[in-house]
Amino acid sequence: MSEPLENPWIAVVNGEEQQLRIAQTTRLVDVLRTHLNLTGTKVSCEVGRCGACMVLMDGEPVNSCLVMAYQCAGSEITTIEGLHGEKEGELHPIQQAFVEEGGFQCGYCTPGMVISTKALLDRYPQPSQEQIESGLCGNLCRCTGYGGIIRAVRTAGETYASSFSLTTGVKKVNDL
Ligand code: FES
Ligand code: FES
Repeated sequence: MSEPLENPWIAVVNGEEQQLRIAQTTRLVDVLRTHLNLTGTKVSCEVGRCGACMVLMDGEPVNSCLVMAYQCAGSEITTIEGLHGEKEGELHPIQQAFVEEGGFQCGYCTPGMVISTKALLDRYPQPSQEQIESGLCGNLCRCTGYGGIIRAVRTAGETYASSFSLTTGVKKVNDL
């Protein structure tokens, strides 16, 4: 039997306020995929091991399968759909770098990899190898390997990411 949708939930998702009524046991990933139809965030292990469900919560990367909706009410959530270039519809520089460097390997791991890269480059615009490995240690690829992904992170850092703000594709005020 499904739970009643009796709990109000408000947060900002990809820059827009969302007001929902959800069940008590709803997780953030369910809010995103089921209630808001933001299916770019993937569900795989559901126990916090793979990073397929990674999103930014107030700028910090979190596994949305482990965050209950009530824990993120009032927060600012950014999903893969919330990243874009200078104009709506353009790829974010991190996404562009993943395409160019062969880091876009499959639909399951890539959204989470890109989100973790966003968090990493917001903190370290030109990360060391160690910082890249640490920043992506929560994101697993089970099949292809990490060479293209690490190249993409480095390219994004060198080329673009340092001029981008924390949670959106919009340039920092000082760069405008
Ligand atoms: S589905 Fe959330 S960490 Fe794997
Ligand atoms: S899990 Fe996506 S390429 Fe390996």
